[in-house]
Amino acid sequence: MGTVTDAPSLVPALPGGYYTDPAVFEAEKRRIFERSWMCVGRADAVPQPGRFLRADVGDESVLVVRGRDGEVRAFRNLCRHRGARLCTDESGTVGNSIRCVYHAWTYGLDGRLIAAPNMRRIPDLVKEDYGLHRLRAEQWQGYVWVSLDPDAPPLAAQVEPQLADRLGGPAVLDRYGIDRLGTATTIVYEVESNWKSIIENFTECYHCPTIHPELTAALPQFRSGYGSISGGGGGAGATFAEDVEGFSLSGKAARPRLPGLLAEDDRAFHGIILRPNAFIILVPDHVAFFRLEPQGPGHTRVVVDWLFDREVMAADGFDPSDAVAILDITNRQDFEACRRCQLGMRSSAYRGVLVPAEHIIGDFYSYYLDALGGPPAASQQPGSAAGSEMGAS
Ligand code: FES
Ligand SMILES: [Fe+2]
Repeated sequence: MGTVTDAPSLVPALPGGYYTDPAVFEAEKRRIFERSWMCVGRADAVPQPGRFLRADVGDESVLVVRGRDGEVRAFRNLCRHRGARLCTDESGTVGNSIRCVYHAWTYGLDGRLIAAPNMRRIPDLVKEDYGLHRLRAEQWQGYVWVSLDPDAPPLAAQVEPQLADRLGGPAVLDRYGIDRLGTATTIVYEVESNWKSIIENFTECYHCPTIHPELTAALPQFRSGYGSISGGGGGAGATFAEDVEGFSLSGKAARPRLPGLLAEDDRAFHGIILRPNAFIILVPDHVAFFRLEPQGPGHTRVVVDWLFDREVMAADGFDPSDAVAILDITNRQDFEACRRCQLGMRSSAYRGVLVPAEHIIGDFYSYYLDALGGPPAASQQPGSAAGSEMGAS
């Protein structure tokens, strides 16, 4: 720290086309969302056999169903007959089987084709050949993660290096026992912004003193604009202001700390981004879990779950609103800033720069450009400024 180097203090941001060009978004679907493990929803959203949840991964609609055997399976949400989307709701119950509304081909909860009208007159329709397309699914931190890539390494290979980088390893996250918590509140934000801007916003805190009075009152070190909302490495986290008892709008602590936490966690705030589509905030009495569903170059659905200890939730008088409020206000401040950037990035004159407090975003650029693996389309390389200077900061 404090060393004077020759490194430039301003480095170019990614050109605007990366955020606005539909060709880039198409490439991201193919090369990132359809190749990575994507968080698609909370496992307890499918508590019993026949319950389902649905999510978008790239161009695919993904159906997650709990089978009669209790196993959670993921399928392409696609009828093998003529392609009708099987489930259109976000979540719900299919009952004992998944029946297509068009011509009534019917699939078991394990994806096998079990019936089709006039099946005896269709001798070529071999049931074993026309089951739903199964996708790889894993459960981790109480969430279902799906990969469309049959060759992707296991989910652990995607998340563990990121955990090591931000929190020094899995120990901090494990203490919060996220898979044992219950969901008290879920808010879906339809954000008119590119998904990368949202991740970049979570990464830097240069904006915190300007747009987050509530957050910086609770966490004074964010007032400096330095550091990263998603953790500075080593697992230390940010510390509550002296007069703040809990991460809530009033600053009061209405609940005990989560079982499994240590005294050192009592006044700590941790944030961690798990690329490409999850972000977790850890505070003593609850966890907020963000899941991004990129819908287009300029539109991202952000689904945020506020998770609490189930016993605390069941007690009389449980009211999470104070805890939800501080983060909901902060989210809306962030997403409005992202929306404004989305508007500005369309300008032909846009040439953004990163200041030193934002150089950490260069790490995200490195990941992103590597994952993208080259120009999105031969004829449509967005802008020209992104290049070798991006990664080093
Ligand atoms: S499209 Fe599903 S049964 Fe025909
Ligand atoms: Fe922010």
